[in-house]
Amino acid sequence: MGHAWGFGRHGGPEVQEFFDRPDPVPGRGEVLIRVDVAGVNPLDHLLRAGLVPGLDGGRPFPRVLGMEAAGTVLALGEDVDGLEVGDPVFGFALTGGGTYAETTVLSAPNTARIPAGLSATVAATLPVAGTTAVDALDQLGLPAGATILVNGVGGGVGLAVARLAAARELHVVGTGSAAKREPAETVGVRFVDYTTEDVVAAARELVPGGFDGIVDLVGDPSLRTVAPLARDPRTVVAVGDQSVADIGGRFVERRLDRENLERAARLALDGVLAPAITAVHPLSDAPAALATVENGHTSGKVVIKVT
Ligand SMILES: NC(=O)c1ccc[n+]([C@@H]2O[C@H](COP(=O)([O-])OP(=O)(O)OC[C@H]3O[C@@H](n4cnc5c(N)ncnc54)[C@H](OP(=O)(O)O)[C@@H]3O)[C@@H](O)[C@H]2O)c1
Repeated sequence: MGHAWGFGRHGGPEVQEFFDRPDPVPGRGEVLIRVDVAGVNPLDHLLRAGLVPGLDGGRPFPRVLGMEAAGTVLALGEDVDGLEVGDPVFGFALTGGGTYAETTVLSAPNTARIPAGLSATVAATLPVAGTTAVDALDQLGLPAGATILVNGVGGGVGLAVARLAAARELHVVGTGSAAKREPAETVGVRFVDYTTEDVVAAARELVPGGFDGIVDLVGDPSLRTVAPLARDPRTVVAVGDQSVADIGGRFVERRLDRENLERAARLALDGVLAPAITAVHPLSDAPAALATVENGHTSGKVVIKVT
């Protein structure tokens, strides 16, 4: 039996509740873990609201919130390769087990060992934000010296994109509100405050010839405002808004496999993907953790330390 936080039906924050549940039984290709740290993401409240039915896993209510976690393997389901009981691991809960809980099941092909030297807290932030940043930049494939605009640079994915882009020797301009200026400039971003500046005019002044690529983390209407700053609309990659295709851009192609997780972990160990973890909440404080992300103006990554 383990304590968990989730929702009894689809809806707003009012449907959230704490409850106890029996430890999930790992099915084929799943591992049961004791959760150490769970990452908090915008996707979590979108799932609670019932806006992403394909990712719900079809489990009965109450459902547990959370898509990513780091912890220790307690048991293996059938057909699990490369993981053992007792391994420290991190990965995706893709079958609806939820991660804001003392125990959960992760999908084994979407789970990797935590390498020595990497903390569970950092590892827990890599499946969603870390690998998304890697995938977005891979998709753009820009050479050193190219220019990139990161729209929404101060959040979980944005700061990871900025760090990775700087490591690839790209020239990064990022947008955000005033509180995001300092963390963005620390990682080498030339910052535009969208609350006080004309974003298009300010970005054009910094990069007069137009950008070689844009990673959008905000969505419309901001996406449509900044998209013309790209020299070629095909180099606009959106992470949250599928309507990017309507303006000639592309939605990010995600790789959720173990190999990509291991790659993100290596980048984190090298300090390239070091996430800015701005808040660590106990499980009892999960409502505050998710509320911080749900307000849409998060700084860096928020996590829940379960054990
Ligand atoms: N496809 C996938 O697999 C995948 C994976 C991860 C995330 N996502 C999606 O990607 C999006 C970003 O995720 P995230 O984890 O980085 O979210 P986040 O941590 O909440 O960050 C979003 C950032 O955007 C900033 N922002 C809001 N309005 C803005 C505007 N008009 N202009 C510039 N910045 C603005 C926010 O703060 P300020 O307004 O204070 O600057 C915040 O820092 C979400 O929609 C999420 O669902 C998708």
